[in-house]
Amino acid sequence: MRLIFFLSTLFILIFAGCYNNNTGEMEILGFAHLTLPAFPETGGHAVVVFSEMHYSPAYDDQEGPTIAPPGESVPVTGREIEYTATEYELLRMTRSSQNSYDYNAAAEIYRVNCSVCHGESLQGDGEVSKYLTRGASPANLIEGSAADATEGEIFAWISYGSRTGFALEMAGQSNPTVMPTFNKLLTEEERWHLVKYIMRKQNR
Ligand code: HEC
Repeated sequence: MRLIFFLSTLFILIFAGCYNNNTGEMEILGFAHLTLPAFPETGGHAVVVFSEMHYSPAYDDQEGPTIAPPGESVPVTGREIEYTATEYELLRMTRSSQNSYDYNAAAEIYRVNCSVCHGESLQGDGEVSKYLTRGASPANLIEGSAADATEGEIFAWISYGSRTGFALEMAGQSNPTVMPTFNKLLTEEERWHLVKYIMRKQNR
């Protein structure tokens, strides 16, 4: 009932006043100036109820709307598969990461992201390590558990921020260590390159 009242008042005002159907601007008897929903007769949209939506940053005037993916479709990029602990242990480097591996590029990723804690030597003696007085110290990646871990395990430890971080992630808890969870910071490929880099340094 209220809606009918509102709409009829709106139409009376539109006919009584001076309404611009392209911009939605309206003037009633020279004293009231309003902006109403626009109903442009030309352009991509026959009826624009909320005129501000017409200028949505999502797409421009001459472009069609972004087509939504079909319902229940599965993203093929952007989401990484999460495995169980046993599956990670058996996980092997993807062929594409194997092919794109470049020693110098991997060394640079390590230098930028890991060396502050694990050190240029990979032995856990990075610049920051002496200030980390609480909690575990950065692991020695040459001689510690990483020395006989599988490539999938090292990948998981990097992804979830250390062995402890990974174990607790599997138990549904957050990472208590200072090591960042690199699955949010580096691509899957970059993390595999680091695995290969570390294993090379371990002479494997
Ligand atoms: C802010 C410091 C910090 C940074 C940066 C960091 N780590 Fe760590 N990392 C740690 C600490 C501390 C541990 C040991 C935590 C624990 O007790 O499990 C660890 C553990 C690990 C382990 C498990 C080794 C083991 O024997 O348990 C791996 C593998 C590892 N880091 C790789 C990396 C790589 C690769 C990078 C760079 C992408 C990196 N870390 C960046 C602090 C850091």
